[in-house]
Amino acid sequence: MTYWPAQDPSSKQVAGRTAYLILHNTSEVVTPDAEGRTTLRFPKGAIVFREGRVLAVGPATELFRHHPDARPLNANGKLVTPGLVDCHTHMIFGGHRAAELQLKLAGATYAEIAAQGGGIRSTVRATAEVKEEVLEKLLANRLERWRANGCTTVEVKSGYGLTTAREVRLLELMSGAAIRVPGRVHRTALVLHALPEEYRGRREEYVTEVRDVLLTEIHRRGMAGAVDVFCDPVGFSVDECRGVLERARDLGFSLRLHAEQTERCGGALLAAELGARSADHLECASEDDWRTLGEAGTVGVLLPAAALTLRQRLPDAEMLRRSGARVAIATDFNPGTAPAQSLMECAVLAGRLCGFNADELLRAITWNAARVLGAEAEVGHLNPGAWGDAVQWECETLEELPYWMPAVRPDTVFMRGADLALPAVERRVWP
Ligand code: NIG
Ligand code: FE
Repeated sequence: MTYWPAQDPSSKQVAGRTAYLILHNTSEVVTPDAEGRTTLRFPKGAIVFREGRVLAVGPATELFRHHPDARPLNANGKLVTPGLVDCHTHMIFGGHRAAELQLKLAGATYAEIAAQGGGIRSTVRATAEVKEEVLEKLLANRLERWRANGCTTVEVKSGYGLTTAREVRLLELMSGAAIRVPGRVHRTALVLHALPEEYRGRREEYVTEVRDVLLTEIHRRGMAGAVDVFCDPVGFSVDECRGVLERARDLGFSLRLHAEQTERCGGALLAAELGARSADHLECASEDDWRTLGEAGTVGVLLPAAALTLRQRLPDAEMLRRSGARVAIATDFNPGTAPAQSLMECAVLAGRLCGFNADELLRAITWNAARVLGAEAEVGHLNPGAWGDAVQWECETLEELPYWMPAVRPDTVFMRGADLALPAVERRVWP
């Protein structure tokens, strides 16, 4: 069954009749400001949506006065926030690596598991064994799960193909899945993830092929907005990453790096030097690294599920505040380090482990995450002009979001105003 962008008969509203409406009777509307620096709170606030975008946000009494013709939609006294943005996932893969978690918990390191043929390369093999049609279905069902959890914008990385042909195919399957579900999907080409088995002993040749062939092909076909690399002793060196990222930058891609995950090796500084949009992981980054990222305007992305799986520490919120860097939080959903299917759960964990307050957490999974995707003009907040992507939560205050465990669930997820007002119940995209 497909229901996006086609009309969904079970949605509360019918497209075409919903162009101008006011979502009211909230406990409060909470959104980052347009620059993502502070959090705006409107007790008993309302939002006016027009043609799928936010026309106004503010106190309900005022908005009713200015918009008497808008059709009312009742939020039943609940908290309303922007739709969440998951800016780092590896959602297209086959199989799982549950047995590997047991090895990790028994003391094996990520590097040891990779050296024994496990890790990323085992998922590359598992992914190659799944029929393309099934991979696309798996991805669509996952995107729907994210939507039901309140994520209206999701980034998806390739990276479990490794060869030019397979990476390109994964990126194609992403667009196939994306049109079947009601969410915004940003595609990232993760081009240096692991050395394919067939290139063993021929590293340089592989990196050159990625730089000269794979990037050119992805660019020619307009298949991704960003390019990512795994800059780590387990992945690729700073010099290998630099060559590929400089070429990607010249082609007009925005840049992302997996950096300082298993060891501190210079990935964060490379991200800052190249003006990357983000450096992600950073479990082993120093305060100086964070300060450099802040000065460069590169967002630091924390991935609490991966840090927990590899039993690493997350940075302290007080240090992050001192650094001046923007911080986003993401699931990193992948079968190895982060089988984490709820962004809000990840934020709840980071709140406690790092010491973030509720405002900071909301910004980390909305505006700052949108900034990582270069989409902050359109999503990640509810200021006029943004897409009307919003979540009505099963709670009443902002402070409850990082409080409940398991995390608070959405009551209703709005895409484009109420063109699609969908319940938090997750549907299977394919029967
Ligand atoms: O973000 N570190 C590199 N990539 C993923 C893990 C991928 C995997 O283990 O399959 C990450 O943690
Ligand atoms: Fe990752």
